Amino acid sequence: MPITVHDDLQLFEIRTAGMSYVFGLNEKGILQHLHWGEPVAGRDLAHRLRSWTHSSFDAEVERECEEMSFWGGVGYAEPGLKVRFADGVRDLRMRFDGYLVETEGDLERLVLTMRDEHYGLTVRLHYRVAAGFDLIERWAEAENTGSGDIVLEQILSAAWSISSLPRYRMTHAAGRWAGEYQLRETVLSEGKKTIESRRGFTGPHANPWFAVDEGGADEDAGRIWFGALGWSGNWKIVAEQSSFGIVRVSGGIHDFDSEWRLGPGETFAAPAFVGGFTIGGFGGMSRMLHRYERERILPSKALRKVLYNSWEATAFDVRVEDQIELARKAAKMGVERFVVDDGWFGARDSDRAGLGDWTVNPVKFPHGLGELIDEVKRLGMDFGIWVEPESVNPDSELYRRHPDWVYHFPTRTGSELRNQLLLNISKPEVKQYILDFMTRLLSEHDIAFVKWDMNRTITEPGLGGFPPERQKEIWIRHVQTLYSIWTELRARFPRVEFETCAGGGARIDLGILRFADQAWPSDNTDALDRLRIQEGFSYAYTPGVMMCWVTDSPNGLNGRRAPLSFRFHSAMTGALGIGGNLKEWTDAEIEEAAAHIAAYKQIRPLVQQGLQYRLSSFRDSPLMAVQYVNEARTDSVVFAFLHAQQFAGRLPALRLRGLAADRLYDIGGLPEGPLALHGSTLMHAGIPLSLRGDLDSLLIRIRSREA
Ligand code: GLA
Repeated sequence: MPITVHDDLQLFEIRTAGMSYVFGLNEKGILQHLHWGEPVAGRDLAHRLRSWTHSSFDAEVERECEEMSFWGGVGYAEPGLKVRFADGVRDLRMRFDGYLVETEGDLERLVLTMRDEHYGLTVRLHYRVAAGFDLIERWAEAENTGSGDIVLEQILSAAWSISSLPRYRMTHAAGRWAGEYQLRETVLSEGKKTIESRRGFTGPHANPWFAVDEGGADEDAGRIWFGALGWSGNWKIVAEQSSFGIVRVSGGIHDFDSEWRLGPGETFAAPAFVGGFTIGGFGGMSRMLHRYERERILPSKALRKVLYNSWEATAFDVRVEDQIELARKAAKMGVERFVVDDGWFGARDSDRAGLGDWTVNPVKFPHGLGELIDEVKRLGMDFGIWVEPESVNPDSELYRRHPDWVYHFPTRTGSELRNQLLLNISKPEVKQYILDFMTRLLSEHDIAFVKWDMNRTITEPGLGGFPPERQKEIWIRHVQTLYSIWTELRARFPRVEFETCAGGGARIDLGILRFADQAWPSDNTDALDRLRIQEGFSYAYTPGVMMCWVTDSPNGLNGRRAPLSFRFHSAMTGALGIGGNLKEWTDAEIEEAAAHIAAYKQIRPLVQQGLQYRLSSFRDSPLMAVQYVNEARTDSVVFAFLHAQQFAGRLPALRLRGLAADRLYDIGGLPEGPLALHGSTLMHAGIPLSLRGDLDSLLIRIRSREA
């Protein structure tokens, strides 16, 4: 069992196959962190449980690595909990009041209870450990057991202490629309490095995960401490290094402009923040997160279907006859799901009108959606549809009927972004409106898939229907209501699959992935740019949910021309989709596409559910290469991409990973013809790559001779 409590020492020890996590109560009653890293004998650390004074300016240094910093007394580290009591007191004195260890299936959970020594406030710290993962899910929960309101000014999920490294390097993702998931590194020094979103959703500018290492970790080796937060609204992750060299990474719901009023008897639970440790470098970290997502987070284990989406082909000009023509071409290529994007409803001829009016446009679909759906089904595909339920165009019937349904301040003009405003979904009647139209849409039509979009940030966060003292709850309420709508819809329509999209990849995190079967990482579908975006994405998220489309050349965003094979190979490293204007594709292109799709179906389980190894990156090489291997190490696929060859340069042999050293593997896909090599040769001597020119690519299949 992973959790051991040493009552005699007041010491808590979590032990998984490759990791120990140890903390205890010191003589002042502080929950002091002691160790997170390679397995140790927890009891040995009991002697380190002691308070530590440096001077009157640093009176309780050990509070810098408190398991949860309760703001009060002489604690100055990033607070985990900061409250305001009804009488104006803003100081916490939380005392340990027992623990329990419980088992839920293959999960074990440690819950520590802390109570304020004067006020009716109980806090429970949760540590949940799944057998087989070197990961801990942590969150905090506050309960008002008194008689007055308690305002939570900041409640984070968890703080992860990392100690005794000579140097701390933090890796994280940065980005913007059309350039999401770009990897960044920063060396920490005294002070704070904060990554965050204050725009109402997860955001394209940063993503809620982090990795910390000593500076030398690479894809294959090195100690890495990492974490990912499950929250799709405003969040922050703060890496704080103290003057005493202690680093703690705290994270959770952002406190910016945020408060939560806890009435008597009420409880607030912060979202889970999962933390893990590996000695296997960034590749080891990613593979652990991918498996964790597949096994513990995602709503289904089903393979993603090869889809066609007509957005880039027809934009808002969605007409039944064009869609049918596209569907016929898609079916010919082997596509399994046909998706109609924006533009099928209301007066939606551009992004200026119609959002909010979720009735089928009678000009575009004179006989209803059924005509298209029937044809799609007849062609052997299933049907999917786009919605953006949280948004409204001022030029819509919905807005004309209910101008007060949007977030706004009565004395301010609302900022329109993409000509739209956001609905105050926490109003019961607005939430009901969304549930009703979605229920109608999904029960009146044979729809297998919903792409749920959200194309703007929250501004003027006035929460109509709530009193002034609850206005700052908007950021949390929006996410809670969104989650409850998805929960309800998934329960009502268990066979419908959902995609999370927010103008590309602006709402992808472990929170929304509990409800979403797949994710749209970026509106940038240029095959070269996408490789960088997909690489960053794969640091934290499984390629099994990463939707990638093959679109037209030249690309609509940047005019880049890329061979069809390069575009396919780039998209085949995740869950494959097609998004080009098939009406313009030649018969030869359709035929080539059909061959790529057929090849993809063969390797799909490897890509979506296998072990991913990033072999080479455009960040430091003209070569990008990524490999997928099955658990049995008998089957593998490698994708290699050359950006630009220069000076008649030759690429070094590509060394593979994850194979069985003694096995003989058949290698297909090399222009030089088939080869048979041993795993040891493939991993240590590598295979030569004859990629040439610009944007050249290869799909190499590696299969063990023996079963
Ligand atoms: C967003 C999405 C796109 C597409 C458009 C439609 O930008 O990310 O994929 O659905 O909206 O308006």
